[in-house]
Amino acid sequence: MKIGEAVVSEDELKEIVKSLADKINADYAEDEELIVVGILKGCFVFMSDLVRNLKCDVKTFFMEVSSYGDGTESSGKIVIKKDLNVDIGGKNVLIAEDIIDTGITLYQLLPILEVRKPKTLRICTLLHKPERTQREIKIDYKGKVIPDKFIVGYGLDCAERFRQLPYIAEVEFADE
Ligand code: IMP
Ligand code: MG
Repeated sequence: MKIGEAVVSEDELKEIVKSLADKINADYAEDEELIVVGILKGCFVFMSDLVRNLKCDVKTFFMEVSSYGDGTESSGKIVIKKDLNVDIGGKNVLIAEDIIDTGITLYQLLPILEVRKPKTLRICTLLHKPERTQREIKIDYKGKVIPDKFIVGYGLDCAERFRQLPYIAEVEFADE
């Protein structure tokens, strides 16, 4: 497999992140605490850019969940590989996702977090592939809608490769 056509450029990524941060900044006061929960590993580049644009009292935590194996299709059930090491009871929580594809990951994760009784629980995703939706999720902050193509870069991988690409591109598979 190799990197194909660019789907979101570095400049556009900057604009998207800035506009997401502007919306989040409008919703939380500067002295308000916000627990940003990144869903590893895909979030790590996006989240680092996002939090540097946030003005409220940000604290960063991570969870690792997986529904994908080494392939490009969701297995349909999530496994929590790393849980949060913070009590989110009574806190403002914002989930930072790289991409919402089928919606299965967040559909399963949300009730797990809801029972911990956060004050607010919102979702911020850089990308959304609505054509692939299997579970409807209320997305509070959505960066960009993209077509049904498997993409990599800016933290997103294909079998752990290409996360370091500074922009987002399609993957070309050898047999295509
Ligand atoms: P969902 O459960 O189908 O919504 O997808 C959850 C996760 O699958 C995302 O957070 C990504 O980590 C991964 N994923 C979905 N689509 C892509 C893609 O096009 N490229 C890389 N990873 C993806
Ligand atoms: Mg992810």
